[in-house]
Amino acid sequence: MSEAATAARSAAVPASTPDGFSPETASESAPQAKILLVDDEPKSLFALQELLSSLVQNLLIAQSGEEALRLALKNDFAVILLDVRMPGIDGFETARLIRSRERSRLTPIIFLTAAADEMSSMFRGYEVGAVDYLQKPVVPEILKSKVAVFVELHRKTERLRESEEKLRRLAAHLISVREEERAHIAREIHDELGQVLTGLKMEVTWLAKRLREKPLLEKTDSMCKLIDTTVQTVRKIATGLRPEMLDDMGLIAAVGWQAKEFQKRTGIRCRAKLPPEVKIDIDISTTMFRIFQEILTNVARHSRATRVDIELTLSEERVALEVVDNGVGIGDEDVTGKKSLGLLGMHERALLFGGEVKITGTPGHGTRVSVSIPMKQKA
Ligand SMILES: Nc1ncnc2c1ncn2[C@@H]1O[C@H](COP(=O)(O)OP(=O)(O)O)[C@@H](O)[C@H]1O
Ligand SMILES: [Mg+2]
Repeated sequence: MSEAATAARSAAVPASTPDGFSPETASESAPQAKILLVDDEPKSLFALQELLSSLVQNLLIAQSGEEALRLALKNDFAVILLDVRMPGIDGFETARLIRSRERSRLTPIIFLTAAADEMSSMFRGYEVGAVDYLQKPVVPEILKSKVAVFVELHRKTERLRESEEKLRRLAAHLISVREEERAHIAREIHDELGQVLTGLKMEVTWLAKRLREKPLLEKTDSMCKLIDTTVQTVRKIATGLRPEMLDDMGLIAAVGWQAKEFQKRTGIRCRAKLPPEVKIDIDISTTMFRIFQEILTNVARHSRATRVDIELTLSEERVALEVVDNGVGIGDEDVTGKKSLGLLGMHERALLFGGEVKITGTPGHGTRVSVSIPMKQKA
């Protein structure tokens, strides 16, 4: 390994000191923005480092294009200051390679050029992803203010990402709390009300046996019928909240049952291709089942379909569901629409288990919804 490379490697640690904290950034506990300085000349690097140390806490340095590439693989930089003229991989090539990678696809790059460099090289720089140029020797104020813009941008992006992450966690929490609550209410209704109604029916039957007058017997008879319909209603409400079938028999039976119910209720012909029942994690089953219900609700509400085909497939790795209707076909604006909260709910539910939902519509021919969830729950 060359001496320069060794020096660069050992230097590739945060060059900051606690003194580098500005009061504003310290109090905000914002994520620390990292900056990469790339220059083959140690003197230049040192000068840049000195200038920027009050602005960012996390300065990484590299003395070659290769070193810069290695660092860009492992870090997300707010901005990269890149010397154009370097032995080995020059600045342009380094920039092109950095930009060609997914992680650093959008990382801003400021080129450092010698005054003698021509305009044409500037254009070349913009082509490979430069956002700006600075001429050496750099004017400290210009350097600082340019870098500060990118640091601020980076912080804002990070905060946005964090708040997105928080919202996602909140959504996940709400989904699971709601599911627990529904299961709880379903059980209460089923058990408590169910018992009372059974007791009531026994009492009325007891009474009926001791009555002789026809009008009174007619009353007890209609009371019994009322109790029976109430029992049915209670069952329906409890099942609507949380199908017992899902807990007792598993996802595959529950999907089959739901498909039959759907056909009975809507008159839309419903065919389900199901694998033999196997035990699937209850949370994954619940997720899949709820998504399935949401899909069917949409078919009934929006599709004007006359038939629905459902296929559930299982493998070691994943459980997949496909629901195809022959209706009007969902529009692209609905698939991506901000108002499609039902669809958003499906995506969020699936995402919670590392899964995904794909929705496609063909105008006049129908809609296809594919759901796939890995069997192993991702943390
Ligand atoms: N199977 C379907 N066929 C046709 N259009 C659909 C279908 N499913 C959803 N859509 C369209 O997508 C929109 C968004 O669906 P969703 O987010 O579930 O909202 P909602 O059902 O409350 O309207 C619906 O309003 C409807 O226009
Ligand atoms: Mg809906």
